[in-house]
Amino acid sequence: MKRIESAEDISFLAFGFMASKALFAALHVDVFGALDGESKSIEDLAEACDVPEHRMETLVTSLVAVALLQKDGTRFANSEASQAYLVRESAQYFGDYLRFQIDRQMYPFMQNLDKVLIGKTEGIEFETYADWMADPDHAELFSRSQHSGSLGPGAVLAKRLDLGDEAIKLLDVGGGSGAFSIMFAKRYPNLTATVLDFPNVIKVGQAFVAEEGLQDRVGFMPGDGTNANWPVDQDVVLMSYLFSGVPGDAIPKLCSDAFRVTRPGGRIVVHDFMVEDDHSGPPLAALWQLQHMVYTLDGFGMTPGFIRERMEEAGFVDIKEYDLIPGMTRVLEGTKA
Ligand SMILES: C[S@@+](CC[C@H](N)C(=O)[O-])C[C@H]1O[C@@H](n2cnc3c(N)ncnc32)[C@H](O)[C@@H]1O
Repeated sequence: MKRIESAEDISFLAFGFMASKALFAALHVDVFGALDGESKSIEDLAEACDVPEHRMETLVTSLVAVALLQKDGTRFANSEASQAYLVRESAQYFGDYLRFQIDRQMYPFMQNLDKVLIGKTEGIEFETYADWMADPDHAELFSRSQHSGSLGPGAVLAKRLDLGDEAIKLLDVGGGSGAFSIMFAKRYPNLTATVLDFPNVIKVGQAFVAEEGLQDRVGFMPGDGTNANWPVDQDVVLMSYLFSGVPGDAIPKLCSDAFRVTRPGGRIVVHDFMVEDDHSGPPLAALWQLQHMVYTLDGFGMTPGFIRERMEEAGFVDIKEYDLIPGMTRVLEGTKA
């Protein structure tokens, strides 16, 4: 992270929310899609996005200023990364995750941060994931957009874990839309998965699994993962972004439940936002942990050391650790001897 050395550096951080909003607004009116592989003048871009010209010019000026777009004379084009990640047709697109989950849910929730910090929680709509996912509209918006954010990391993790060619049973606790299970099922033809999550979330996941034609291999179980009766004889128990969304004191039981239901030689795989053991960063992992506080009041910020200890206490050995989304998320996997 750049050192903060001047008032300008502080301003850049303080007003950074305006840049976030420029990005989200551009996604909503599909500026990046309108510039898919070609450059346009302001007039043409305004018409393509159905935005008055003078407003488009102000938006585009800010997008150029933060390098999401490039300007050549009077024409505008996507930057390389905008073209790869923010155009809806791109295979690596994750703009729906940004414009729905981050802009429509996380962004307003962060208004509560100062109240939550000092424990003034009256009037706060959701204090836990369970409260939040009990609202069907929120659960749908959250899970649909999470899907767009998790398919990429799911594919990377499926490649990284070597599960072999044998039949594999995967339990995906807090598995949400099933994005990781779907990517694992695609990578391993002999894998069957059970996704455990709240009922409103599961409805969304079932639709995604049906779209992929994977209903026979990816099933769902409604429930609260912290007290549900987990199915036994698993080869892998995956918990992706679950530890940061539950009360910290629920984590030892999640690890011991994983140990109880895995067969010998089976694995626990935990993927989450993690800061270094000395809490020195990285910045995006730290900020994501802060953001979780507003709807998981009793959550702990995860470090690899904390998770490693909980896994070892539960009985797992041979614990490995690696980054999944660099600078943001990490994976720890352990084996049941
Ligand atoms: C950020 S999402 C991640 C979903 C999925 N694991 C992924 O990586 O795409 C966190 C998920 O954990 C689920 N969750 C949180 N607390 C839970 C609990 N106590 N029991 C079951 N699911 C839970 C949420 O409903 C949500 O679907």
